Amino acid sequence: MAILVTGGAGYIGSHTCIELLNAGYEIIILDNFYNSKRESLNRIKELSGKDFKFYECDIRDRKGLDNIFENEKIEAVIHFAGLKAVGESCRKPLEYYDNNIGGTVTLCQAMRDHGVKKIVFSSSATVYGMNNISPLREDMQTGGTTNPYGTTKYMIEIILQDLYKADNEWSIALLRYFNPIGAHKSGRIGEDPNGIPNNLMPYISQVAIGKLPCLNIFGNDYDTPDGTGVRDYIHVVDLALGHVKAVEKVMGCKELNIYNLGTGTGYSVLDIVNAFKKASGVDVPYKIAPRRDGDIATCYSDPSKALKELGWKAERGLEEMCEDTWRWQKNNPDGYPDD
Ligand code: NAD
Ligand code: WQD
Repeated sequence: MAILVTGGAGYIGSHTCIELLNAGYEIIILDNFYNSKRESLNRIKELSGKDFKFYECDIRDRKGLDNIFENEKIEAVIHFAGLKAVGESCRKPLEYYDNNIGGTVTLCQAMRDHGVKKIVFSSSATVYGMNNISPLREDMQTGGTTNPYGTTKYMIEIILQDLYKADNEWSIALLRYFNPIGAHKSGRIGEDPNGIPNNLMPYISQVAIGKLPCLNIFGNDYDTPDGTGVRDYIHVVDLALGHVKAVEKVMGCKELNIYNLGTGTGYSVLDIVNAFKKASGVDVPYKIAPRRDGDIATCYSDPSKALKELGWKAERGLEEMCEDTWRWQKNNPDGYPDD
């Protein structure tokens, strides 16, 4: 029996596939390469020393999904596939609702019709919205999202909760990621954003490599120790290992569970800049810019539920996150080669 990984060629998916293969699972990857390159699949094979099947397929393509479920023995699905750029989602809300929500509904219908009722879903800390106070706990109220991307995650959580209420043969884990950064220790796989990065760490590493002139720090007048925004950065390999635990959980129960995957520690933008400079030995010029719409001062997790129920906790610190990001950036200044 295999685990189907949607979006497995992407940033978090590729790291998770390696950890699943290392843990002895058989995997099948599905991706449409909207935001990834085929080369990441070669590197998953190289790093794990293991082979797997791959389907080029869109999660909105019901016939394509039926073909996979008919031909493969799938026990559970880890569902990463989706669009994730906050700014783009404000410009293209219909594409986001179609891809993320439409795609998830089609995937779940195909799963149900083929008797596969175990799913781990990539949710986000963004579902906590603007009004909760950190540390964020899973039982806090969600909603009040500030952009269509975040709203897709909030709505998918509700859809999956309704699905479980209607049929508790399902087993569902909603994983709320905080801010994933870092890369595999080898420097062979990592985050490969298209165009100018939206997120802090890829922006910093592109400034450090000389592709961008200067980091804009969005506001230094927040109510935080140094005035810049505070977030819960988590090493992508720790996040990947959280998925191995979560998929074990869904395969062993018929429950719906929600888990924060974060470290529980908040770092400011300036903390990240300084840690990156130290780890890379390279300067990161920055200037203070206006606040970015939709940003909040502080967001970090209470990760204790995942520790208690999954036996998982993040082990890798900020220094390692910066060193590993830098190794990937240095060795792959232009990301993965084109297909
Ligand atoms: P990513 O863009 O690197 O990976 C997503 C993958 O899904 C890509 O390979 C893309 O080609 C594929 N994909 C997109 N739409 C598809 C479709 N319709 N059919 C098939 N494949 C499709 O993103 P990531 O950072 O690895 O994020 C993975 C998941 O985690 C996403 O759902 C994202 O919203 C969620 N998430 C990410 C973050 C983050 O900061 N990176 C934080 C919280 C949640
Ligand atoms: C982090 C901090 C910025 C860029 C986003 C999504 C969230 C989740 C993770 C998917 C903030 C500051 C950033 C820059 C800066 N993704 N910053 N200059 O906003 O916490 O979360 O990614 O689910 O949904 O909203 O992450 O990396 O964009 O920003 O000063 O060029 O860095 O203001 O304080 P964020 P981020």
